[in-house]
Amino acid sequence: FIWDYVLILIAYLVGSFPAGYVYTKIATGKDIRNFGSGNIGSTNVKRIAGSKISIYTQITDMAKGLLPVFLVMLILRYQLLNISPLLIYFVALATILGHNFSFVLKFKGGKGVNTTLGASVLISPLPVLISVAIYFIVKKGFKFVSLGSMAIAVCLPLSAYFLGYNQYTILYFMACALLIFVRHIANIKRLIKGSELS
Ligand code: G3P
Repeated sequence: FIWDYVLILIAYLVGSFPAGYVYTKIATGKDIRNFGSGNIGSTNVKRIAGSKISIYTQITDMAKGLLPVFLVMLILRYQLLNISPLLIYFVALATILGHNFSFVLKFKGGKGVNTTLGASVLISPLPVLISVAIYFIVKKGFKFVSLGSMAIAVCLPLSAYFLGYNQYTILYFMACALLIFVRHIANIKRLIKGSELS
C-alpha cells in the first residue's frame, strides 16, 4: 500500500522538473515566466528561445509523463510490487500535477498538455493519436496553439468514450481535460479579447 504513495510521489517529482524554464534560462539567460505568455511550456519556449529549445522542452515534458506510467506498467506486468492496476491513472495525474504545480517553481508551472499526451499514450494510444490529429487541424485553421490544446482536452474523453474504453479511462481523461481548461483560463480571456498570442 505504501508503494502506491511512493510511486505517486515519484511521479509528482518527475513532473515537477520545469524543463522549459531550465532550458530557456540556460540558452538565453532569461526567466521565461517574464516573457511572452509567461508560460513555461514548449509553445512559449519557441517564442522566447526558438524552435530547437522548444523541441527539447516538448520531448522532456512528454517524457515526464511517459516514464512514470511506463514504470508502473513494468511493475504491474512483472508483478514486482503489490500495487493496484488503477494506480496507473493516479500516477499519470500526479506527473501532470507536478508539471502544472511544480514545487521547484513554488507550486506554479505549465499547462500540462505535453505531459498529458506523454502520460496517456501508453494508457490509451488511440484517443491520443486522434486528439493530436485534431490539434493540428484546429491549429492550422485558427493559428492559436491554445485552441488546439483545448481541442485536445475535449477530444481525449470523447474519443475514449466513443471507442468504448472503460469508465476509469474516461474519468481519467475527463480529469485531464478539466486540468487543461483550468490552466487555459488566461488564454480563453485573451482569445475573447482578441489579444491571444499565436
Ligand atoms: O499548451 C500551452 C498552449 O496551449 C498555450 O501556450 O504560451 O500560448 O499560453 P501559451
